Amino acid sequence: MTRPFPNDPMLQDNFAPVMGECDAPDLVVIEGELPEGLSGSLYRNGPNPMFPPLGHQHHWFLGEGMIHAIHVENGKAAYTNRWVHTDQYKVQRAAGERLCSTSFEDEGAPRNDIRNVANTNIVHHGGKLLALDEGSLPVVMDARTLETRGSTDFGGKYVGPFTAHPKLDPRTGEMLAFGYMADGPGTAALSYSVIDAKGALTRHDRFEAPYASMVHDFITTDEHVIFPVFPATIDVERILNGGPTIAWDPKVGTRIGIMRRDAGVESIRWFEGEACYVYHPMNAHTVHVDGRTRVIADVMKYPRVPLFPNADGSPAGRSLFDETALLVRWTFDLDDNTSSYREEPLSDLGGEFPRLDERFAGLANRRGFYAANRRPPSAANNSFDTLVDIDLATGQRHEWEPGEGRFVMEPVFVPRHEKAAEGNGWLVSLVYDRSRNLSDFVVLDTDDIARGPVARVELPNRVPFGFHGNWRNN
Ligand SMILES: [Fe+2]
Repeated sequence: MTRPFPNDPMLQDNFAPVMGECDAPDLVVIEGELPEGLSGSLYRNGPNPMFPPLGHQHHWFLGEGMIHAIHVENGKAAYTNRWVHTDQYKVQRAAGERLCSTSFEDEGAPRNDIRNVANTNIVHHGGKLLALDEGSLPVVMDARTLETRGSTDFGGKYVGPFTAHPKLDPRTGEMLAFGYMADGPGTAALSYSVIDAKGALTRHDRFEAPYASMVHDFITTDEHVIFPVFPATIDVERILNGGPTIAWDPKVGTRIGIMRRDAGVESIRWFEGEACYVYHPMNAHTVHVDGRTRVIADVMKYPRVPLFPNADGSPAGRSLFDETALLVRWTFDLDDNTSSYREEPLSDLGGEFPRLDERFAGLANRRGFYAANRRPPSAANNSFDTLVDIDLATGQRHEWEPGEGRFVMEPVFVPRHEKAAEGNGWLVSLVYDRSRNLSDFVVLDTDDIARGPVARVELPNRVPFGFHGNWRNN
């Protein structure tokens, strides 16, 4: 028997882990009907710490990953959840106690050498379902049972950490990826890799970023790769002097590297901007106007990295909502000889988890989706309360608020059919209902999400607030 989890907001309420793995074969559709054309699985990943933290410090990002799958077919839905059974999971389960730290500051944990939380994203590519964090290799899971098959290094060819946010090219079927601290802890090295549609590694390069930092995501277009480097710095000297491992250090500014996909890493051009932080871009595309090439990137921008301390060690807030991210558009003129770029606002409603109709990933897209805060979060254990569908050309938004005490997760778009117009389909997400202490799988019609769910399916347990999910058609 393990001890109780401490009274930390990131371990309480719906941030607390669920302690069981289960299969629920036939879920109750408590509202509406599952659309006939909706056939596939929503996979979601998030931290679900298997034991309490070692010391008093716990970071939301470092709990062991649990996958939740909702399989939908013929108007019926089934649910399965499993921890990702990494070596970290297996060794700790066998020992019956925590051996890997859930803090970025080393607490002398005995087995940090096997750390792989696999808790951030779950992506299907090359015939494999991959659970991802940003410091390890991808972990292959069974797409139906969620049984863990083990880590993959793409046939022995991939070395170093692999991002939780690879990009799937809808035209070529390639998966484009990067890794940070690619030459080991504290290094500024980034890797850039391409995995072809069949899952074979075809490119695996390394280069130096302007400084070492936590690089959570990147963006690709049909022609370019964009490597954003923000001042959530990892400074070895600071760490050796007892300072924080990852910290906000605005004096180094924002640096954005842009490379043609058909060029070498030595050709990366670095743009410079004011200090800010972006966990998640929505999309980017390349345009050619009057003989000039521009890269346009839409990103969810925070004025400062949430959840990490200042470089002098002074603490940050413990909630994601201490800072507000706004959707902005960045324009990079590749034929201009300055290193600056232009910014314009796209929405005045703050949020996170920006997504799109993935058939337009890397191409010009008009519709975007995200989770927002319509009501200012009143408590550290609250989360996003509104789903947003935005027309990026007009700024017009359609929104759905599930109501008091209910919180939404990242929205995932599913096209109505293969040839449906951009954004025509369903938005699927999970909603936590505090009054029932349960989560629901919801399906919204993107004709007008404000009408509320066309189907709401009760899950057998709550799904803790987590990170990312993706849909895979049957
Ligand atoms: Fe993320």
